[in-house]
Formats: sequence, structure tokens, C-alpha cells
Amino acid sequence: MFLLLYGYWLNSKQMFSRHGIVMTVAVVLQLIMIFAIMTPAFILAIVPQYVVPNVSGITSIIALIHVPLGILAVSLGIGLF
Ligand code: HEM
Repeated sequence: MFLLLYGYWLNSKQMFSRHGIVMTVAVVLQLIMIFAIMTPAFILAIVPQYVVPNVSGITSIIALIHVPLGILAVSLGIGLF
């Protein structure tokens, strides 16, 4: 979040190359978190413990909204390179 606000501030100050570096760091950190923590947690814990037993439960619904939005967000981040 701090990186996003810092990147936005750099953009508004016309410091575009530093803005690009900060945003690249943000996307790489996000990819590390997605592949190291979120994807394993989703496959190993969320799907078997929440989605399969009760697909309309609040945890399942939040996860099933979070995942496509997360994929869209990180895809847009990668697409901007
Ligand atoms: C830009 C994209 C994404 C952002 C900003 C994001 C953000 C977050 C944040 C902040 C949390 C921590 C929530 C908390 O513990 O209070 C989280 C957890 C989680 N995310 Fe994402 N996420 C993104 C993409 C994804 C994707 C693509 C997946 C699917 C594979 C995913 C699956 C999960 C799961 C399963 C958790 C729970 C992890 C755990 O607590 O062990 N996320 N996400």
C-alpha cells in the first residue's frame, strides 16, 4: 500500500522513471506473495475446507471473489510493463 501511494506521488511529481521502478518492485513483491502464500493456501486450505463443504459460505464467497480480482489486478500490473 505504501509502495502504491509512493508510486502515485512520484507520478504526480512527474518522476516517471522512479515511478516505474517502484511499481515494478510492487508487482514483483505481489507475485512472490501470490505464489509463495496465497496460491498454496487457496489450493490446500480454502478449497478443501471451505469451498467444497459449503460453496455459499461467507469464506468461500470472499475467496471466490478475491481470486479472479487478484488475477485480474496482477495481470494488469504485468501488462503495463
Ligand atoms: C493483486 C492481487 C492480490 C492482492 C492485492 C491480494 C491481497 C491479499 C491480502 C492483503 C491478503 C491477506 C488478507 C488477510 O490475511 O487479512 C490475501 C490473502 C489471500 N489471498 Fe490474495 N491477493 C491477490 C491475489 C490473489 C490471488 C491471484 C489468489 C489466488 C490464488 C489469492 C488468494 C489468497 C488467499 C488464499 C489468501 C489467504 C492466505 C492465508 O491467509 O493463508 N490472492 N490476499
